Amino acid sequence: MRFPDGFAWGTATASYQIEGAVHEDGRGPSIWDTFVRTPGKIQNGDTGDVADDHYHRYAEDVALLADLGVTHYRFSFAWPRLQPDGRGPLNRGGADFYSRLIDALLDRGIQPWATLYHWDLPQALEDAGGWPARDTALRFADYAALVHERFSDRFGNWTTLNEPWCSAFLGYASGHHAPGRREPAAALAAAHHLMLGHGLAVQAMRSQDAGGRYGITLNLYPVDAATDTPADVDAARRVDAVTNRVFLDPLLRGRYPDDLRADVAAVSDLDFIADGDEKIIAAPLDVLGVNYYSRHVVRASGSDQLPDARASAWVGSSDVVAVPRGRPTTEMGWEIDAQGLYDVLSRVYREYGPIPLYITENGAAFADTIDEDGAVHDPQRIAYLDEHFRTAYRAIQDGIDLRGYFVWTLMDNFEWAWGYSKRFGLFYVDYPTRRRIPKDSARWFARVTRDGGLPDR
Ligand code: FCB
Repeated sequence: MRFPDGFAWGTATASYQIEGAVHEDGRGPSIWDTFVRTPGKIQNGDTGDVADDHYHRYAEDVALLADLGVTHYRFSFAWPRLQPDGRGPLNRGGADFYSRLIDALLDRGIQPWATLYHWDLPQALEDAGGWPARDTALRFADYAALVHERFSDRFGNWTTLNEPWCSAFLGYASGHHAPGRREPAAALAAAHHLMLGHGLAVQAMRSQDAGGRYGITLNLYPVDAATDTPADVDAARRVDAVTNRVFLDPLLRGRYPDDLRADVAAVSDLDFIADGDEKIIAAPLDVLGVNYYSRHVVRASGSDQLPDARASAWVGSSDVVAVPRGRPTTEMGWEIDAQGLYDVLSRVYREYGPIPLYITENGAAFADTIDEDGAVHDPQRIAYLDEHFRTAYRAIQDGIDLRGYFVWTLMDNFEWAWGYSKRFGLFYVDYPTRRRIPKDSARWFARVTRDGGLPDR
């Protein structure tokens, strides 16, 4: 099973999850620095203050990437390192760090793939209203243009946002992520302003360099109804609208879906969508990044009250609940469903494409431990990745223009509200010493990148 020539093999990371060094070289606070200090928000009270100490160990980490044989590395710029208050000129210390990282990658022949925003909004911008405020979109576009101007002579792959669904709906509706607000109407405004910021950023970057490749990364899910009753079928339609189509439609069709507007009418009249916004959001894209972890199977519960007084991330559909199917899960509790990857890719490609696709994240957390022999044996992760890679291969055979695959993630790291309790890495991080230890999956992945594919089964 050889993947096409030029297929991008990579791993992905995010600034707050790995860097640490939160007070160094002029970095300002982000919403995550604030959130992790809010009691009860993060498992075990963990913070990203030190994380994997990647800020100081980046050279060692680039060597790990070289050991993996990857062609690409997806990382994110920390906005508060580059603009400590979310506005103004680039902060020299922060820019120098990314400059060193980019040089180290290029020296090893690894192509940088940069994400401009992986959730660490400068706290000053949250204090001014955060993503529900329109001005944040303008600030993001300014930031994108500055960073792009500084680094675009060295690489060409630019992602505006990582998973705007999480930023908007976990950040402002369910409150599971920073800034932890539970304001459903504000979450819809946040989603829109993230989209607007994306469109403005793409326009700004393309005007600086028409030869760059500009895209966005969405976390997409197949959404199935638990039964074929009309109520459950409609629940699936609504969840699809408020997780997938809320972004896919404006990005690739230039219009928010009518059914979504109706579904959320009781929450918001969407008066924050100004004339012309949808046109900006639909700025042409060169690639679409897809993050895939699992499938949603849902049913209408008949009640707006979630059992444990949680707030729903599915704005306008808080009566809908997820239904476990009893399949094997990862440590996150996410059901393993490789076919879902195929379903998501083919849906996007056939309904919204053709557009070049990249899997910008896929991977699994398992309860890894260091064995007596000093190694970390993670056969479950190898099985997971093997199955998902084969599924991606099948999608390519079926004519889907899939051009790359980034494993989440290079090394164990700060998994947001779960703190350090979930290990997704190809490298195990021994937190007391921050030593990186290759898991068996790292050696396995190095063979995949070397061979450009997998042995036939
Ligand atoms: C995605 C995030 C990434 C990581 C994985 C497990 O939603 O983009 O930062 O946390 O999930």
